[in-house]
Order: sequence, then structure tokens, then C-alpha cells
Amino acid sequence: MDNILVIGAAGQIGSELVAELRKIYGSSHVFATDIKQAPPDILEGGPFQILDVMDDKQLIHFIIRHKISQIYHLAAVLSGNAEKLPTQAWRINMDSLMNILEVAKMVEEVKKVFWPSSIAVFGPTTPRQNTPQLTVMEPVTVYGISKLAGERWCDYYFNKFGVDVRSLRYPGLISYKTEPGGGTTDYAVEIYYEAIRNGNYECFLNESTALPMLFMPDAIDATINLMEADRSNLTIHSSYNVGGMSVTPAELAREIRKHIPGFTISYNPDFRQAIADTWPHSVDDTISRVDWGFEQTYDLSKMTGIMLKEIREKIKN
Ligand code: SER
Repeated sequence: MDNILVIGAAGQIGSELVAELRKIYGSSHVFATDIKQAPPDILEGGPFQILDVMDDKQLIHFIIRHKISQIYHLAAVLSGNAEKLPTQAWRINMDSLMNILEVAKMVEEVKKVFWPSSIAVFGPTTPRQNTPQLTVMEPVTVYGISKLAGERWCDYYFNKFGVDVRSLRYPGLISYKTEPGGGTTDYAVEIYYEAIRNGNYECFLNESTALPMLFMPDAIDATINLMEADRSNLTIHSSYNVGGMSVTPAELAREIRKHIPGFTISYNPDFRQAIADTWPHSVDDTISRVDWGFEQTYDLSKMTGIMLKEIREKIKN
């Protein structure tokens, strides 16, 4: 039986991934960890411990003691925050990954690692529409540079040491359970909360900024499917493109207005506009579909209905 370690379990992806993994592997086999306290359902649903991935001794001790065979390393400083503290973000994003790769190389029981990359690996010289898996990559953000370097390290550890590390280039992830923090695509979550709370939203990106987005249930399915895939089917050992839907703030607002007719949006682009302007509008994920069966099941309309319903419920309680 696999024992699974999730690092960053209190975050936007972690909080939902832990719940899903516990359903599949059994609560006692999924060890949720974070540097901060997790929400009640994570704490009550199975083992949780404070763990700092930057502390390599604590990390290796934890992994050996709990006979961990799979690691999901989700802790990172996102794009907007990374621009404010470049050297710190670089250190956190890179050193944490290197600690994980080293542990996976050294501890034989560790069979698989998941580490998220991002559409931020692309840059202004990358083709914007239907961005290919393999293309020009010249990211101009600290976050993007750290993710691209991370991809190269993953590929290196796979080729050199046989570490089975698997990765997805997540687009913007939209969810209602745990809010993201410090990212450029965060507007696509904030907009739903503000629509319900105030009936209006001031967006930090301009109305026509198209970015690829994915609803969290699709992202969680994709993550677990990639981890469960037969190793021999995987042809990419850096990170796989996953597309989702290409959406602009204006399109999102229009969709919300179908449910909340009086909803208004205004635009006041900040420093994150410059980040978004270097990222793809849409992504070609053909290789993910072929290699491990990626599928997107939620479109903008279906997702918006669920987001509004769930956030309304959440705010009421
Ligand atoms: N959602 C992330 C961000 O905006 C991109 O990976 O930083």
C-alpha cells in the first residue's frame, strides 16, 4: 500500500487534492503537511503535520518514518508575490524542489514525485495561441524562471538518476474551497466572491486579457491520472501542457451576469498585467491527451454555475 506525502496541503490545490487522495488511498495513508495550520476538514480527515520542505533533515526523517512512497510537492511562491521578493521566491521555489528530488533519489521507497509547473514557463517570444508542448521558452518573471529551471531539473533527475517525477504546466486554476494567493490568474477566483459579496469587481487585468484556465475538479483529476499512468506511456519528463479554457475577464463577467444580472466590472490593471501579457492565451495539450488521457469536463458556463452556488453557500455558513 502506498503512503503519500502532500506538501502544501493547506493551499489552493493541496486542500482539494488531499481530500481526493484520501478517498482513493484511505485516510491513514495520506499525510498532509504544510508550514501553516490546515483547514479543519484536512485536520480531521487524516494525519496532518507541520513540515517545512526547506528543512531537508526534517523532510528525510519524515519520509523514512512514515514509509512514504509518493510525494506531491505543491508549496511555491506564485507569480505576483515572487515579483515582490525575487531572491526569496527563487530560493523557496528552487531549494524546496531540489530537496524533494534529492530525497527521491536517495530513498529507495520513494517511487513517484509530483511537482507542478505552470504556463508561466512561457514568455513574450513564445507563440501565444495554442502554445505547443515544445517551443521557445524565455520567461521574464521570477516565478516563470523558477518553474522552467525546475522542469529542467526534473528532466535531469529522471534521465540521470531514474527519479520518476511527473509534472503538469497548470493554467490558472479556479476553485471555491481555498483561495489562491499572490498569483496573476487569481482574479478569476476573486471575481466570483466579489460578485456575490458586492455585485461588482475591480479587476487587476484589462478586459481582453485571455489566459488559459481550468476548473479545480479537472485539475485534480488530471494530477491523479498522471500519477496513476503507466510509466512506460509517459514521453515527457519535464512537464506536460494542460490547456483548459481560454477566458478573458470580460467573458467571465458576461457569464456571471447570466446569474447576477446587475453585476458590474471595472478595470484597473496593476503590475500583474505585465506578467499576464507574456503568458499564452491558449495551450495545446495534445500530448497529455495521448500519453495519459487528459480530459477537460467543465466549460465556462458549467463552472460558473457551480462556483456561484458553492461560494454563496460558503458565505452563508
Ligand atoms: N496561477 C499561477 C499564477 O498566477 C500560475 O501558475 O501565479
